[in-house]
Amino acid sequence: MSKTGKPKICICLTGKTIEENIRILERYRPIVDYVELRADCLEPSERFYIRSFPEKAQLPCILTIRRKQDGGNFEDGEGVRLVLFAKALSFPKPDAKANYAFVDLEDDFRIPVIEEACHTFGTRIIRSHYFHNGIPENFDAAYEQIAQEDDEVPKLVVNPQSSAEFIRFLKWVIRAPRREHLLIAAGAYGIVSRLLAWRFGSMWTYASPLHSGMEIAASGHFDPLDLRNIYNFDLVNEGTELYSLIGQHSILSSLSPYLHNKAFREMGKNALLVPTPVDSFADGLEILELLGGKGAAITVPFKEDVLPFLAFHSTDVKRIGACNTLVRRGDAWAGYNTDADGFERSLLEFLGKQDLSGSRATIIGAGGAAKSIALALFRKGARCLVLNRTYRAGRDLARKYNFLYSHLDDRANDLISEYSDIIVQATSVGMREELDPISFYEFKGSEAVFDLIYHPSKTLLLKRAEEAGCRVLNGYKMLCYQAAGQYKLWMDEPPPDIYAQLEQPQFS
Ligand code: ATR
Repeated sequence: MSKTGKPKICICLTGKTIEENIRILERYRPIVDYVELRADCLEPSERFYIRSFPEKAQLPCILTIRRKQDGGNFEDGEGVRLVLFAKALSFPKPDAKANYAFVDLEDDFRIPVIEEACHTFGTRIIRSHYFHNGIPENFDAAYEQIAQEDDEVPKLVVNPQSSAEFIRFLKWVIRAPRREHLLIAAGAYGIVSRLLAWRFGSMWTYASPLHSGMEIAASGHFDPLDLRNIYNFDLVNEGTELYSLIGQHSILSSLSPYLHNKAFREMGKNALLVPTPVDSFADGLEILELLGGKGAAITVPFKEDVLPFLAFHSTDVKRIGACNTLVRRGDAWAGYNTDADGFERSLLEFLGKQDLSGSRATIIGAGGAAKSIALALFRKGARCLVLNRTYRAGRDLARKYNFLYSHLDDRANDLISEYSDIIVQATSVGMREELDPISFYEFKGSEAVFDLIYHPSKTLLLKRAEEAGCRVLNGYKMLCYQAAGQYKLWMDEPPPDIYAQLEQPQFS
């Protein structure tokens, strides 16, 4: 957290020309605090104008000329880089805003004349070191190497290749010296270090103007607008209570942070949900505990892995055999499942019904999500057919509720026809590729078809069903309603209407 209030954002500009960079900066000016010119991305002819950038930007500027070996685009030699730095720092102006506020110099680039110019004319040196593959053996030694000068800003960038590596970094960051610095874990495993940079004493979070079509400056960057609008950078502070979304890398496209953080904002809750991509549930829980988190949303594929870690299991967790919500109770974790209720509410609303007795439904899948669907359909009185690729899993789920079951292939065609008032797609098929798990089935047009996937917003199955005249629904509303249930558990109060009102955003 910076000393002067809200977390700071540094926008990284990777445009080919100074003009392009300034044009994009204008769109973000009200919400960013610093601007980094990645001069290594400029066309060679534009490099002659880097001295003019701070005056045009009118924000504290950081000059970076990132070498190829450090993940940048600069391919010329160190002599050329030296001349460029010298050019950028030359002819300092009395108005400090017209000079670079910072210059990013790597640990192995120690050039006395450049350092002297910086000290004399008030440009602070960011002393950076990049571990591009993985993390250092000894963080203390790596940090000491870049933190020798009190007036410099040490910047350590690591690139964890697993959640276990990120945890090692996080443990060190939590006890790192308290001074102005930048401690960053790149890539998907490191995004907590970007979203919570303010929590770890980093002076700012680097961000890329992705929504403006500019190339991402480094892996793991968010767009500044998302930091402001989804991660509430204008509201969070030292007292903010943290919640995690624990899942695999696919959670990076989840809308849960968008929904919950909008609800927290609307209700004036000093709380934040951050996505935590991990390799195992145990790693996700360890990160949550290291952050002092109050709760978590659990998603694919950890809804069953979480069970042994629970001190309390709600009735739905016991019945479904899966948990999607953690709530801290003292030193222990209580587990709940809001999926069945979320599905039930969205399905009944979609069908305009209160009850499903007399309806026949097909459930495709027998994993964690399908288990919640089966419970909800059973409770509402529907008679169901379970289809699954792995016969055994389908059979085990169906037997619990006295449902029919079959293999997920064309042999099930006639059965689907019989159980076709409602068809619920609850596998992951269609999420990453245009695939349809029941491509062998021809829709009659009378089926109500529900695909739990909401990203993409219309899977091939839904497109096909819609073309045949069926009513179709994706999983967005279910996501909203199960999230509303999570809010109620975390905050111990009724969820705001926003969960029912927010339309599926364009970016999803
Ligand atoms: P979730 O929590 O999203 O339900 P899960 O518990 O891993 O995740 O379950 C995934 C479901 O998708 C299972 O029904 C799985 O079928 P299997 O039991 O045969 O594994 C189904 N699934 C995943 N990939 C599939 C594929 N390519 N074809 C058919 N079914 C698939």
